[in-house]
Amino acid sequence: MTSVPVRSPEDGNVYALELTVHGDPTFRHVATGEVLHGQVGPWKEALQLYVEPSGLRHAQGEWTLLDAGMGCAAQLLASVEAFEKNKNLKKLRVASFDLEKKGLEALLAHQEEFPFAKRNAGLIEKMIQVDFFVHTLDDGRQLEWKFFAGDFVEKIHDFSDWSEANPNWKADLIYYDFFSPTSHPHLWSLTLLERVYESCAPEAKIITYASATCVRAVLLAAGFYVGLGIPSGRKKNSTMGATKLDALEEPLPPKWKGTFLNSHKPYVDDLDEESQKSIEDRIRNHPQFVGFSVLF
Ligand SMILES: C[S@@+](CC[C@H](N)C(=O)[O-])C[C@H]1O[C@@H](n2cnc3c(N)ncnc32)[C@H](O)[C@@H]1O
Repeated sequence: MTSVPVRSPEDGNVYALELTVHGDPTFRHVATGEVLHGQVGPWKEALQLYVEPSGLRHAQGEWTLLDAGMGCAAQLLASVEAFEKNKNLKKLRVASFDLEKKGLEALLAHQEEFPFAKRNAGLIEKMIQVDFFVHTLDDGRQLEWKFFAGDFVEKIHDFSDWSEANPNWKADLIYYDFFSPTSHPHLWSLTLLERVYESCAPEAKIITYASATCVRAVLLAAGFYVGLGIPSGRKKNSTMGATKLDALEEPLPPKWKGTFLNSHKPYVDDLDEESQKSIEDRIRNHPQFVGFSVLF
């Protein structure tokens, strides 16, 4: 496997106000120039792409959400609000990952532009002040939040240690919202996604905005079943992965193997031949496609 460079907060992680293609307020990540939620804005994207398909609104008991790429916290706050409304969900644990909390600070500073920030300003302030809290709602249900500051490539190991010691913290749901594999290939490597897979509860889902063949391939190779997620704005379908095939609404069909094999960019990174072969073999033999190999 290729080695993964470790990034630090010194890489620069500042956010500036920006407009989506429809003129709604959002943020631009200054160092990369990437506009967050550039199609429909943070709140709509968080709801449409992440919260609605996640199952959170109808979940029961206790859930753990791994919020990978907390940024300006749109998915995080949309999930907290979904939890507040879903009385059957007794506890929501959220593990948020980011280099630091600059996104939260930007959101708080610009709360007038973002109604979801304004109505959650108290919570955002608390998240800026501490890295862990348990918040009890009026009806006794609990939100537990833990922040892992630093490079996700390293911090996922801290999370694994944490969830080994506290098995409730195995992830039921993962939002994977890092910058694109083109600009941040180290956050989409097989080694890392295998680690994410190992951090999952037996029935878990992973949702990402990304739709590239190389992303779907690496998720399959890491062990997930993979299907289409819903479109957002003008974007093609997003991607949903799951530890169980029947959790997917629209699994990639067997002919997707052909898409992968014919893709001009089947791998996230420049991999050596052995690593490429390992990913290809895993996809060829993936249980999602077993029984259909006669087609290829
Ligand atoms: C697309 S943004 C996330 C947007 C966010 N989910 C939201 O709701 O606003 C990606 C985030 O990943 C963070 N990030 C970039 N490199 C990282 C790394 N190596 N480890 C952890 N977080 C990283 C960035 O700081 C940025 O906040």
